[in-house]
Amino acid sequence: MKALVLSGGAGTRLRPFSYSMPKQLIPIANRPVLAHVMDNLRVLGITEIGIVVGERAHEIHAALGDGSELGVRITYIQQDAPRGLAHCVAIAREFLGDDDFVMYLGDNMLPGGIADVAEDFARRRPAAQVLVHKVADPRAFGVAEVDARGRVTALVEKPREPRSDLALIGVYFFTAAVHRAVDAIGPSRRGELEITDALQWLVEHGREVHAHVHSGYWKDTGRVEDVLECNREVLDALKPYLGGEVDAESELIGPVVVEDGARVVRSRIVGPAIIGGGSLVEDSHIGPHTSLGRDCAIISAEVGYSIALDGASVHHARIQSSLIGRSAAVTRAPENLHRLVVGDHTRVEVAAR
Ligand code: DAU
Repeated sequence: MKALVLSGGAGTRLRPFSYSMPKQLIPIANRPVLAHVMDNLRVLGITEIGIVVGERAHEIHAALGDGSELGVRITYIQQDAPRGLAHCVAIAREFLGDDDFVMYLGDNMLPGGIADVAEDFARRRPAAQVLVHKVADPRAFGVAEVDARGRVTALVEKPREPRSDLALIGVYFFTAAVHRAVDAIGPSRRGELEITDALQWLVEHGREVHAHVHSGYWKDTGRVEDVLECNREVLDALKPYLGGEVDAESELIGPVVVEDGARVVRSRIVGPAIIGGGSLVEDSHIGPHTSLGRDCAIISAEVGYSIALDGASVHHARIQSSLIGRSAAVTRAPENLHRLVVGDHTRVEVAAR
């Protein structure tokens, strides 16, 4: 079995971060979402992985290389524009051949892995198998209608009035039957070749599309809130590690990782939390559910339930529920007012006076 990981697309909901990095490289517990995806695939014994990339191909290539560090072999497949999930299957035809494959959206996080779904697919071997999850509001997702035997009877992409509460997770198992379906469909109203339409085509042509209900944790890391929530979930399984220096006046509580080369001085770190390599935390309070990337500087500050990307700094400020970009600086203003240099589509929430 092969895997096709989709890492093109625009990522508009993750602006401003997606201006400077592909959303699939946003770190969850200090590792890019894509590295977590690769972990889940390698566990299945899949080593042949095609990655569909868009205009940010070079950054994804720089992060993952040929895959050897992650124990997989990566083939990059260039997509000229985000023309839809089924378009990704079409352009990967040569890479996929007639093999079964799992298509995995590169912004989907399933920290518990997908081994049970893969076994289910291997045992039943339907033409296709989707993974669904009950959600309160499915309007932002593909939605599946499923009969009592677990067969999909209909699928709709982001319906205004959903006819079921089963959202499609971004992990799909396919046999080579999908290629005829992809060839047969045309662009949707939003101009994309939808994978839901290809699945619907299979259903209408009498092919079995099975739905596996996933009850474990799942997150589409499309929005900042989702990224922070997912970081919390993954950090909850953190194993403590002390590589850097922690002085005698500091206190580590609960599972804390202080990576090699990090320094903690006169500070209190409440786990789960990660202090990235080369970072300095001084006279500060970090955590819980916080990860600092490499070379961050947190001085006389409080940072909780947040992610700071590489090189970020926070001086003399109290930060909560925040995502701080690479080399971004948060500091105290000289007077009792806010001074901001804010990029496009940035969101700032300041405390009421
Ligand atoms: O996360 C689950 C949802 O993912 C499903 O419920 C929906 O049925 C499915 O369409 C998808 O919806 P999104 O709106 O979240 O899709 P998004 O545009 O974010 O694309 C998903 C991934 O695929 C993302 O990593 C970017 C990549 N992609 C997307 C398109 C449209 C490509 O590589 N090429 C593309 O043309």
